[in-house]
Amino acid sequence: MMTHRDSDKGRARTGNAKLLAWIDEMAALCRPDSIHWCDGSQEEYDHLCDEMVRGGTLIPLNQDKRPGSYLARSDPGDVARVEDRTFISSRRAEDAGPSNNWADPDEMKRTLKRLFDGCMRGRTMYVCPFSMGPLGSPIAHIGVQITDSAYAAVNMRIMTRMGNMVLDALGDDGDFVPCLHSVGAPLAPGEADVPWPCNETKYIVHFPEEHAIWSFGSGYGGNALLGKKCFALRIASAMARQEGWLAEHMLILGVESPEGETTYIAAAFPSACGKTNLAMLIPPDGFDGWRVTTIGDDIAWIKPDPDGRLRAINPEAGYFGVAPGTSMASNPNAMRMLRRNCIFTNVALTDDGDVWWEGMDGAPPAHAIDWQGNDWTPDCGRLAAHPNARFTAPAAECPSLDPNWESPEGVPIAALVFGGRLSRTFPLVYQAFDWPHGVYCAATMGSEATAAAVGQAAIRRDPMAMLPFCGYNMADYWGHWLEMERRLVDPPPIFRVNWFRKDDEGKFMWPGFGQNMRVLKWIVDRVRGCAPAVESPLGLMPRHEDIEWAGLAFPRETFLDLTAVDRTAGLAEAEDQRVFFDRFAGHLPAALEEQRAGLIARLTEAPALWRMEAQALHVLVTDDCA
Ligand code: GTP
Ligand code: SPV
Ligand code: MN
Repeated sequence: MMTHRDSDKGRARTGNAKLLAWIDEMAALCRPDSIHWCDGSQEEYDHLCDEMVRGGTLIPLNQDKRPGSYLARSDPGDVARVEDRTFISSRRAEDAGPSNNWADPDEMKRTLKRLFDGCMRGRTMYVCPFSMGPLGSPIAHIGVQITDSAYAAVNMRIMTRMGNMVLDALGDDGDFVPCLHSVGAPLAPGEADVPWPCNETKYIVHFPEEHAIWSFGSGYGGNALLGKKCFALRIASAMARQEGWLAEHMLILGVESPEGETTYIAAAFPSACGKTNLAMLIPPDGFDGWRVTTIGDDIAWIKPDPDGRLRAINPEAGYFGVAPGTSMASNPNAMRMLRRNCIFTNVALTDDGDVWWEGMDGAPPAHAIDWQGNDWTPDCGRLAAHPNARFTAPAAECPSLDPNWESPEGVPIAALVFGGRLSRTFPLVYQAFDWPHGVYCAATMGSEATAAAVGQAAIRRDPMAMLPFCGYNMADYWGHWLEMERRLVDPPPIFRVNWFRKDDEGKFMWPGFGQNMRVLKWIVDRVRGCAPAVESPLGLMPRHEDIEWAGLAFPRETFLDLTAVDRTAGLAEAEDQRVFFDRFAGHLPAALEEQRAGLIARLTEAPALWRMEAQALHVLVTDDCA
C-alpha cells in the first residue's frame, strides 16, 4: 500500500482536478513507495542533496572552494541525449516527418505502460510543478514533472522556476504539460540502490497533439530534465506552430553600446557549438564601454507583440552547460558563475575536493578521480571528464545576467543569427537578403557532430539547430517560419555565421570566443543602419574595413580567405541541399526551392573564386551613424 509521505501539503495546496487525477493515475501505474510534492524551497533542496550524498549519488565538493556545490557521476551508458531513442508520437507519421523517429501513439502508449508498470517500486515519486518562463508572463507555460530521480528534481529546481508558487499560479483550472519521467530501475524490498540508477532500455517520447511527455530509462540531461528539450522545444514548437510563435534552440544576448543602447540578438547553434560562450561573451580589447549581457544560453520562446515586433524570453532559470573547454580564457563569466551552488556531472574530482576538466586553465592536476570514479593522471591516456560533462548553474549566479532577463513581456529581438560548426569552405558571416532568404539559410544549416548526443552522423544538416528538437514535420516548421513574416511589421534581419573554419593544418582560422564581438558589432551596426555591406553570391558581407579591428592583429589576407566563396563548392552544396529537400517532398515550401534556385543562379554568374579583393564590389552604403 502506498504511503503519502510529505504529500499532504502539496496535495492540499492544489485543487486542480486535472493535476490530481493525473498524479493518482501515474502513481497507480508506477507504484512508488511514497510521493513527495516538491515545494521548491531551499530546505527541501538541501535535504534532497543530503539524501543523495548519503546514497552516493552526489559528492559534496570542497566547501571553501565550491560552496554549495556537488559532483554526480552518471552510469557510463547514460551520458547524453539519445536521439535514436527519441520519438514524436503524432497520430500521423507524416506529421512527425522524415527527420524524427515516429511511433503510433496507441502502440507507443501500450509499450510505455508496460515499461512504467511498477517502475517506481522501492522509490519516491517526486512531483515537480514548474514554470517555463517568468510566472505570469504571457509567453510562459506551466509543466509538472513526475520523476523517481531526486537528481532530476534538484536539477529541475535550478533549471526552472519550480515549487508551490507554480501550483498557486496554476489554480484550479489552469492547464499544464504532464511530464512523466522514470529512470526505470525499481528496487525489490531490501535491495540496495546504485548511485546512478537507469535502464538500458530508453524511450524519450512526445505526444504533440496531447502535449504530453513520457521519458523512461535515462537520468541524464535533456532525457531527464523534461522542461528543457522535451517541453520547451519539442512540445513547445508544436504549440508555437498552432499559436503563431517560435520555440527555438537559441541563446539570447544583449549588446550594450558605450552610449548605453542595448540591442538584443537571438542566435541558434547546434548542441555544443558555442551558445553558452557567445551568450556570456566579454568584449575584447578595443571595445571599451561595450558590454554583452545574458538573457539565456539554450532556449528562446519568441512571440510577436501587438506592434508586430518579436519579443523573446528565456524559458529556463539556469544553465546546463558543457564543462570541458570552459576556462578563464574561453568563458570567464561562466567560470565565475560556477564558483558556488552548482551541480557538476561527469567532470573529474581533484584531490582537494575541487572539479577539473579538459581545457580548464593552468596545468592539469597531477592526480584526480575521473568521471567514472577511477584514478587518473595526465599521462594515463584517458579523458578525466566526459566530453559531454555538464554543470547545472542557477541563472542568478551569472555575472553577465541582463537586468531584463525576467521581464514578462520579453526583450525585443533586433536580429536572428544561425551558426553551424563547419570546418571547410563556409564563410565567417553574411546577412540574408530578406526574411525568406534568411529562413532558407537557416533551414539548410549544416554542422559537424559533437558529444552532446549519441547516434548522430559526422556531418549533418541541422536546420535552425533544431534537427533533434522539432516536435513536428521539419518542412512544416520551415513553412511556419516563412509564415511568421506576415505577423511582423519589420522582420529582424537574419545572419549566418561560422566560427569553426579551419586552415589546411587543421587550425581554426578565426580566433572566436571574445573576438566574436567583432562580428556581433557589425551585426548591431547593420541593425542600426550604419554599416556598409557588399553583395556576395551567398548574401551581404562586411568588407575588412567594415569590421572593428582595434586590439587585434588579424591578417587582412586571412579575412579575405574567411569570406571567399568557392563556386564549385557552393554548387555542390546547393546540390546536396536538393537531396536533403527531396526527403521532405510534399511538405517542402516552394519558397525554399526558389531560394535554392536563386543561389545556383548567383553562383553560376560569379567567378570561380569570389574573393572580395578581386571583385568589383557592389557596396551597399548606409548612413554613417557614428
Ligand atoms: P548545448 O548546451 O549543447 O546546446 O550547446 P552550446 O551551444 O551552449 O555549447 P557550448 O557553448 O558549451 O559549446 C562548447 C563548444 O564550442 C566547445 O567545444 C568550445 O570550444 C566551442 N566554442 C565555443 N565558442 C567557440 C568559438 O568562438 N570558436 C571555436 N573554435 N570554438 C568555440
Ligand atoms: C543540447 O544537447 O543541446 C543540450 C544539452 O543543451 S541537453 O539538455 O542534454 O539536451
Ligand atoms: Mn542545447
